[in-house]
Amino acid sequence: MQVSNKKPMLADIRGQQYFDVPALAVSAGVNESVINRMLSGLPVQLYQAELVLSALSDETGKNYTLDNVDVVLIPEHNDDTEDLNLMTDDVTKEQTNTYILDAESPTEMARLIDLHRVVTQAMGGPLAGVSELPPEAKVLDMACGPGGWVCDVAFERPDIEVAGIDVSKIMVEYAYACARTQQLSNASFGVMDITQPLDFSDGTFDLVNARFLVGVLRRKSWGQFLAECTRILKPGGILRLTEPIDAAGITTSTAYESLSLLVCQAFWRCGYGFSMNGYTLGMTTRLPRMLRQAGYHDVRCMAHTLEFSVDCHLWKDLYNNALAGSSLIHPFLEKAGVATQQDVERLVARMHLEWLSEEFCGMWHLMTVLGENQKL
Ligand SMILES: C[S@@+](CC[C@H](N)C(=O)[O-])C[C@H]1O[C@@H](n2cnc3c(N)ncnc32)[C@H](O)[C@@H]1O
Repeated sequence: MQVSNKKPMLADIRGQQYFDVPALAVSAGVNESVINRMLSGLPVQLYQAELVLSALSDETGKNYTLDNVDVVLIPEHNDDTEDLNLMTDDVTKEQTNTYILDAESPTEMARLIDLHRVVTQAMGGPLAGVSELPPEAKVLDMACGPGGWVCDVAFERPDIEVAGIDVSKIMVEYAYACARTQQLSNASFGVMDITQPLDFSDGTFDLVNARFLVGVLRRKSWGQFLAECTRILKPGGILRLTEPIDAAGITTSTAYESLSLLVCQAFWRCGYGFSMNGYTLGMTTRLPRMLRQAGYHDVRCMAHTLEFSVDCHLWKDLYNNALAGSSLIHPFLEKAGVATQQDVERLVARMHLEWLSEEFCGMWHLMTVLGENQKL
């Protein structure tokens, strides 16, 4: 099923001042937020749209169906959608930036630099959960972005070697410049595509780390990615993956909640994350078992929380992150067919006000999964 752009029925209803739609459809067993979404032209599931239309038809005596109505539907999940070529227009064939945002935009670079700082602190430091790393250990960060994690580890452990790889040359150059400025001679960076076999020998690393890959690797790439991590880890080496549990925090802002839901739906449609229905990212639910299935032992999970309610010091950081994120995400939402730029602008305008409310509360949940590679 495709996203439809059909007749303007819901607009007609508003034109006819049909104000009873929410009450009517609620009485037909449809959730009020679903009706509000329909009235705002936001996407809904097929069965939800059908329930609303049948309630409206009964009430008005007119025949409202999906054929004569403008409803934006979420398509049934279909593996064909995994190949939607969303972000690869400008990249070479050899290396594919599969990130859902424009990794080369200065706004994204600045967002990632700030995000690294607050998230790493909330997680208890860059190596939280890693019990020991021997002197001269070798560590790799996958899709390292501007290199904050690599630089922090290299600073904390001058006795080990830390490398970061990313497909974006701009990210790698920035990361390298940071390491040089901080005189971190044990940090290095390279341009590499983590969806491809990596240019490292078998059994090179004691620790492979990655964070926020949910928007980088499509779900069909995770198996190969984990296998490649296994190959380049030493026997007994540690894989450490950190992913968000909820897309970008659960808040009291209804506009932000709508945006987060659109993001989850876009991820789902475009083959990212492991959600069953597009209501979550579905990443952290699956990761521990995926690691066990890939042969990792002693798989452990650590949850992290970042509270960013209005009276918390993280509010400002997460507010800036939300503003930057929402300005960057709309091309992805539009290409995924879940929202127009106007939808996003309208939600962002409301989001501003709701985040500034004295009652605003927010909490972001992340999870780190650690597993040990098989010993020889
Ligand atoms: C969410 S950011 C990573 C942030 C970083 N891991 C951190 O925790 O601060 C995603 C990064 O993935 C990179 N990327 C996208 N596709 C990639 C690929 N196929 N191989 C390697 N890096 C990729 C982007 O250039 C971007 O820097």
